[in-house]
Amino acid sequence: MKTIVITGASSGIGAAAARRLAADGARVVVVGRDERRTHEIADEIGAERHVADFARLSDVHELAEALNRLDRLDVLVNNAGAVFAERTLTEDGFEKTFQVNHLAGFLLTRLLLPLLVASRASVVTTSSMAHLGGRIDLADLQLERGWSPWRAYSNAKLANVLFTRGLHRHHVLDGVHAAAFHPGAVATRFGTQGGFSELIFGSPVGRRLMASPEQGADTLIWLAQRTPPRDWVPGAYYAKRKLARTNRQAGDSGFVDAFWARSARLVEV
Ligand SMILES: NC(=O)c1ccc[n+]([C@@H]2O[C@H](COP(=O)([O-])OP(=O)(O)OC[C@H]3O[C@@H](n4cnc5c(N)ncnc54)[C@H](OP(=O)(O)O)[C@@H]3O)[C@@H](O)[C@H]2O)c1
Repeated sequence: MKTIVITGASSGIGAAAARRLAADGARVVVVGRDERRTHEIADEIGAERHVADFARLSDVHELAEALNRLDRLDVLVNNAGAVFAERTLTEDGFEKTFQVNHLAGFLLTRLLLPLLVASRASVVTTSSMAHLGGRIDLADLQLERGWSPWRAYSNAKLANVLFTRGLHRHHVLDGVHAAAFHPGAVATRFGTQGGFSELIFGSPVGRRLMASPEQGADTLIWLAQRTPPRDWVPGAYYAKRKLARTNRQAGDSGFVDAFWARSARLVEV
């Protein structure tokens, strides 16, 4: 039986994946931010649960401490993410989109690394096609200049792909296999918390055109259940179970390494 930890499992794509993977026999560990939603889904599928706010790196450290008590960890799914209407800094001093979507998952993965290596684990990260529009400037990672909700989000989702490439470059020889994926445009709570994105993600017409959370979770479930490198290519980015095009920065190994090193310095691991 595989042990699968899913962040952002209290809603949307993560919750749909948690239900399916548990129904298919995995031991699922549910991680969410909102206590009520996290307990509801964990109770529904009979899963271990943890509550952590990724806008606080101290929560990520506590979460990692708890997860490191697992006897094994076959799949870590870094799925938590959000877009924000306004630029805010977290208590750790980072732009919130960058921290919640990227830095927190980066830190969590790094803190779990010995367990991931011992389990020869897969690390699956929910990115987005939006990453294609990202362009990360290492001199302005917190977007002090020219912040907009979608610029911050596109860069954060590009960070997810760079993280996947970096994890692959640093740890594939340790037996850790990484993949990122695009879930499609999915009718979840994503983008419905105010600002411009609510016009698209919150409109009844827009939502009717979108995929269901279950459909959005399909590639995640496929990556989690299959075995790399036999069934999928380690270090790659997928959409609809197929290899998909990535941002040019993700093809630049020098940039991938520089971004990896900067992320590590920021979270001091
Ligand atoms: N929906 C789409 O069209 C779409 C498209 C491309 C990519 N994505 C990506 O898919 C992933 C899942 O999103 P979704 O569509 O399922 O949206 P969702 O229903 O809003 O779910 C987002 C999940 O992330 C968690 N989360 C948000 N902020 C957090 C924080 N500060 N700390 C810890 N967890 C936090 C939420 O926890 P709580 O509910 O407990 O607050 C929730 O479980 C995200 O990474 C998103 O960027 C979505």
